[in-house]
Order: sequence, then C-alpha cells, then structure tokens
Amino acid sequence: MNWVASQTADDKLLQQELCASGKMPQHVAIIMDGNGRWAEERSLTRTQGHREGINSVRDIVESASLLGIKHLTLYAFSMENWRRPRMEVTVLMDLLLHYLRSELDELHKNNVRLQAIGKINALPKNVQKQLFECMETMKNNTGLTLTLALSYSARWDIVRAVQMASLDVRRGKLSPEDITEERFATYLQTHATPDPDLLVRTSGEMRLSNFLLWELAYSELYVTDKNWPDFRRNDLYEAIANYLGRERRFGKTSQQIIDEKSDAPESNSLKRILNAFRS
Ligand code: FPP
Repeated sequence: MNWVASQTADDKLLQQELCASGKMPQHVAIIMDGNGRWAEERSLTRTQGHREGINSVRDIVESASLLGIKHLTLYAFSMENWRRPRMEVTVLMDLLLHYLRSELDELHKNNVRLQAIGKINALPKNVQKQLFECMETMKNNTGLTLTLALSYSARWDIVRAVQMASLDVRRGKLSPEDITEERFATYLQTHATPDPDLLVRTSGEMRLSNFLLWELAYSELYVTDKNWPDFRRNDLYEAIANYLGRERRFGKTSQQIIDEKSDAPESNSLKRILNAFRS
C-alpha cells in the first residue's frame, strides 16, 4: 500500500495544519508502554495486548512518515525485559519476527529506512537474520528512518562507548583531553541520528526506563495516560501539537528566544488544533 495515495482527506488536512503551525520535530522517540494493562482492562491475555500494540506501531510509523518526520525511535524491548517470564519473551520475539517479515515490503515501498540499536547479538538468531535482511534491503531509502531499540539499555551503550574510547586512547588514536561531548557521542550506537526533539511515553509512567539517557538531555517530554495499543495517529498529532506550543530554551532566557525568532510560540492554527483535540 502506498501511504500517500491511501491517506484520507481528513488526515491530510490535520497534518497540513500541524505542519503549518511550527517547526516539526526531526526526531520523535517513543517508550511504548501499557500493552499488559490494556489487555488486563479487557480481560484479555498479555499476548493480545502486545498484538494490538503492533497495530499502533503500524499506524504511528505510517503517520510519522506522512508527516515528514525524519527519525522515529521505538523502545520495543529493553535489556531488562529479558527478565520477563520465558513465555512472554518468546511471544515478543515471535511478534517482532512476524512484524519484520510482514512489513518489509510495505516499509520498503514507502521509502522507510530501518536501523536497530541495542545488544542485537542477544536476540534469537532468526530475529537477527530477519532484522539484518530488512536493514540491508532498506539501507538506501531516504524517507523516515525507523530505529528499533531491541535488547537496549542506555547505560550499557554508554559503558560500551567508554570502553571503545578507552581502547582508542590505549592505541594512541585519541588523547583524553580531546574527549568532548561531541567526540564522545560518536562512540554511541545513536551517533548517526540527531538527538530526539520529543520523547513520548504512554500509560502514564514518569520514568525514562534506561532509554537514550545521553541523547534525551534536551528533549521535550510528553507523557500520556493512554496505553500503547490505544495510541494512534491522532494521539501522535496531539503530542506534536503540544510540543510545538513549548518554548525550547536550551539554557537561554525566554527573552533571548523571543528575540531570536519572529514567529509567536503558539500560532492561531496551533491553538485551533489543540482545541480540536481538547473538545
Ligand atoms: C510495554 O508494555 C511494551 C513492551 C515491553 C513491548 C513493546 C512491543 C510491541 C508493541 C510489539 C513488538 C514491537 C515491534 C516494534 C514490532 P508492557 O508489557 O510493559 O505493559 P504493562 O506495563 O501494562 O504490563
């Protein structure tokens, strides 16, 4: 399916209004949480919650791509998630494998590039194989870059980066006084991706859960009470509309930011979109 051709007129209009109301985030990162709670509220199994979560993944990837967002990072499986019951881990790996197999064509046709961060060699061999095949197929695509965080831990990545930088010091390729923030970041797995502008977390928890700890230093945080399986494109638009209404100061004063940009922080069209979501 071609996403542009199949987009509804209403969705197109909403996206146009959103895009007209400010500078879109280049990178949105999402902690997808609440699959279990969604299932429990409906007396369903956790597996059914994760399965419905995949439908949200599809809708968010498609709508982010249509919006022209350059990077979308999804926290799909943390290193800590290996501690879940074996059956649930198996279900999650099977769902991931199925998603990669069934979506490859559609993602590729819609110009999506796929990346993965995390301890990929800890994943089952068949998942690794499918993942590398998908990444290889899509490596020259120029649209949305979808990054899946799999067996991921931000502390693990930071420690790994320290180890690699230390090795370079030992080999004489790097001197300790040359280690700046920028240089250090080149050792992280996320080195080729700009830091997230917006972090969304579903299901109401106010935690970072070991996700992109270095990269989120200046990101705007948005937490919604909706569980991940209920989080669909209009919820993403609401999160972005909320983000566009914020003032990102990066340590400066409010007056400095106003002086630097001529446009008002919340334009009329942004107010209209936010009101539409609130009513
Ligand atoms: C959190 O819900 C969700 C996860 C640990 C996994 C997210 C995975 C998917 C949506 C499916 C596979 C992903 C892709 C990208 C194909 P939870 O189980 O922690 O929910 P709870 O906190 O309510 O128990």
